[in-house]
Amino acid sequence: MRVGILTSGGDCQALNATMRGLVKALYQQRKDIEIIGFLKGYQGLMYEKYKKMSLSDFEDILNVGGTILGSSRCPFKKMRVIEDGFDKVEAMKKTYKKLKLDCLVVLGGNGSHKTANLLSEKGLNIVTLPKTIDNDINGTDMTFGFQSAIDIATRTLDELHTTAKSHGRIMIAEIMGNKAGWLTLYSGIAGKADVILIPEIPYNIEKISQYIKDKLKNGRKHIILAVAEGIISQEETKLSKKELKQKRVKDGYISAGYRLEAELSEKIDGEVRVVVLGHIQRGGNPCAFDRVLTSRIGVKGAELILNKQYGRMVAVQSNNITSVPLSTAVEKPKRVDPNDEIIRQVRMLGICLGD
Ligand code: F6P
Repeated sequence: MRVGILTSGGDCQALNATMRGLVKALYQQRKDIEIIGFLKGYQGLMYEKYKKMSLSDFEDILNVGGTILGSSRCPFKKMRVIEDGFDKVEAMKKTYKKLKLDCLVVLGGNGSHKTANLLSEKGLNIVTLPKTIDNDINGTDMTFGFQSAIDIATRTLDELHTTAKSHGRIMIAEIMGNKAGWLTLYSGIAGKADVILIPEIPYNIEKISQYIKDKLKNGRKHIILAVAEGIISQEETKLSKKELKQKRVKDGYISAGYRLEAELSEKIDGEVRVVVLGHIQRGGNPCAFDRVLTSRIGVKGAELILNKQYGRMVAVQSNNITSVPLSTAVEKPKRVDPNDEIIRQVRMLGICLGD
């Protein structure tokens, strides 16, 4: 049985751990397994860049971040565009057929799932495993990488508290998540943020400044804001996509944290500082939770392959590891629902959500 594997899109800490779980479980069940690892995601499949791998390649990588296969972004919207006569989809199909693969395993996020679904519709046997620190794939309660990133962002918020307290400052931590606020929401709660701003809940700067003023008046010495990189103000929601783009250019393309700093500084006396966490959130090693989760997800992926259940994504639902059709995974990205129970609970904790 010949199984291709690739890791696609932005990386996370638990890609190696997931591949290890998958490959170990496959070898436990069958001795005739051959693994083909494609290098740098879909690029490897397109351009026949791969290596033959064995079980030993996957040993001792449970706790190692990054990906031993490398990754790249191959945007889905360009996938069907023929460039310089090169048909990417046909090229991927050709490699798959040439190597006589029985199936292809894709570890990826939303965009990678769209391509996986397309390849599945084109007749390839595909199994996918849900990766992203954004936790925004439909059909699964959780993606791997999410918990490790929460731990990193939470640690940073812990660290900001001590220095912010010493100086009596207002500190803004900009956390990843362009469209989905899961990471900011969870790390904001865990990191005792006073204010949590997410893309799904447009903010009102007046409300935030009033909240901060009241807190400081009532004796709080410092303020921590956990802010997703994709936040948008209530005013900005009235703009068209084009107008918003123009406004961002006018603002000087500064990131969300710095935009908020400028807005807050106009309203509040006091020092405001910004920290952009950036790719640190995807770096380092997987946390214990992710090591267990990915081991289980890997095993489930192996079971799908051994049972020839293709065209499916391994999913976490109510603490069980199950699977859903790829069509479910690509329906629409999973966002924070402003009416969700967790949002009500955050409000009950007295945390400001900016609205
Ligand atoms: O999709 C994961 C993610 O880390 C997002 O949170 C972030 O917006 C994006 O990737 C950053 O992408 P890149 O690594 O290409 O800069």
